[in-house]
Amino acid sequence: MLSLPLSLLLAASTTLAAPTAGTFNILTLNVAGLPAILNGNDIPGDKTVNTGLIGQYFSTYNFSIIHVQEDFNYHAALYETDDHPYRTATSGGVPFGSGLNTLSNFDWIDLERTKWDTCSSSGGDCLTPKGFTFMRVKVSEGVWIDAYNVHTDAGIEASDLTARASNLQQVSTHIKAYSSSNPVLVFGDSNSRYTRAGDIPSIFTTANGMTDPWISLALSGKTPVAGTDALLCENPSATTACEIVDKVWYRGSPAVTLTATQFRYAGSMFLQPDGNVLSDHDPVLVDFSWSLGAKLRLSDPYGGPHGDFFNDLDTLSSISAPAVSTITLRGGNRVDSVSVALTSGQTLAHGGSGGTAASLTLAAGETLVSATVCQGQYSSQTRIFYIEVTSSKGRVVSTGKKTSECMTRTADAGWAITGFVGRSGDEVDRVGFVFSKV
Ligand SMILES: *[C@@H]1O[C@H](CO)[C@@H](O)[C@H](O)[C@H]1NC(C)=O
Repeated sequence: MLSLPLSLLLAASTTLAAPTAGTFNILTLNVAGLPAILNGNDIPGDKTVNTGLIGQYFSTYNFSIIHVQEDFNYHAALYETDDHPYRTATSGGVPFGSGLNTLSNFDWIDLERTKWDTCSSSGGDCLTPKGFTFMRVKVSEGVWIDAYNVHTDAGIEASDLTARASNLQQVSTHIKAYSSSNPVLVFGDSNSRYTRAGDIPSIFTTANGMTDPWISLALSGKTPVAGTDALLCENPSATTACEIVDKVWYRGSPAVTLTATQFRYAGSMFLQPDGNVLSDHDPVLVDFSWSLGAKLRLSDPYGGPHGDFFNDLDTLSSISAPAVSTITLRGGNRVDSVSVALTSGQTLAHGGSGGTAASLTLAAGETLVSATVCQGQYSSQTRIFYIEVTSSKGRVVSTGKKTSECMTRTADAGWAITGFVGRSGDEVDRVGFVFSKV
C-alpha cells in the first residue's frame, strides 16, 4: 500500500463513494454589536458578556453555517467562545468594518466582501461600509453552495427604501453573474418586509428563482401582500406566523436538489441566564436536506480564484441526453482552453485562444470517463498547468505540463464527462467537470 505512486493514491481516493445526500442547517443573527455608547439596542446586560454568550450558543448548538451582522466592537468575545473550524476574519469595528462574518463547519473558497453602491445618510447607514459577502461553501464532493450574507440599509424614509431596494438589486445582479447554475443561499438582515410597501424582498424569487422558506414552510406558500398589516413579532417569537426583517432565500441547481425542511425563529434558544434576550433581533434557523442530481452532477474543481466564473450546468440541463462528439484542449506550458462539441450541436468552450490544440473525436457509444488535472503557480496565481481526459475505450487527450499537484476524477458507472465548471480568462484558472447520466 505504502509504495503506491501518488497518482494511484489520488485516483483511488476518488473511488471511495462520495455521499449522495445529506443535511445541514443555517442560522442568521444580527448580534447587536454596535458600541454600547452608540446603540444599547435596548438589551439588558453587558455587551461583551452577551456576545460571549452568543458565541457559546453557536458552539453548543453546532449550527452548520452561521451569518452574523453588526459583529463590530465585541467581535473578539464572539470568537473567544465559539469553536467553529472555519470563520471569516473581521473587517473591523465601527467605522471600518461591515459587521458581516461567517462561522461554519464547512470550508469555502472565493470569499469577497462587497460594499453597497448606495446608502442613505438617514439613520447612519453611510457611517460604516455596509454591504454583502459572497463565498462558495463546500458541503460535500460536488456540492458547493454560494452563500451571501447581507445587511441592507435600515430605516423607513423614502431615501432608505430607495437605498435598500438598490442593495437587494445589487445582490440579485451579483447572483446572476457569479452564481449562474449554482445552488445559492442568501441569509442575513434584509431590513425588508413583504408587508411594507416600497420594499422588494421578492426580488430573489422573481429574478433569481429562489424560495423564501418562511413563506414556503410557515405561510404554506402564501406571499404576504405589500401594504397589508403583518402580525408583528415579539422577541423572541413563539410563532413563525409573524414577519421579521431577518430572512433566508435558497435555490438548488441542476446538480444539487436543495430543500428547506424546517423554519424557526430561534430566539428562545439564545437567552441570558435571567431569561432576557441577547439581541434585538430574533435569529432565524433553517434546516436543509440536499441530494445529488439524477441526471447531472459535478466534480470538485481544482485551481485558483482568478478569472471569470463559468458553469455548463444550465446549458447541459436544457439538452435531453447530452453526449460529447469531440473534446479539444489547448495548451503549451499551461492550459489555455477546454472545450467539448456535443452531438446536439452546441460547443462548450472556456479560456483563451493561445496554445496548440489537441482533440479527440469519440466513436459511437464512446464516452469521457476520467480526467486528471494539475495546478501550479504562474505570476503568483494558481493556474491549471495540465489536463488529461480518458475515454471509455482508453483513448487519451492531454495538454500542458504536469506538476506535482494533481487530482483525478472518475465518472461513476453509467455517467460521463460532458462539460466543465470553473474560472478562466486568457487561460484556465480553475476547472472541474460536469457528469451526465449516459
Ligand atoms: C459539529 O457538527 C459536525 C457535523 O456537521 C461534526 O463533524 C462536529 O464534530 C460537531 N462538533 C461538535 C463540537 O459537536
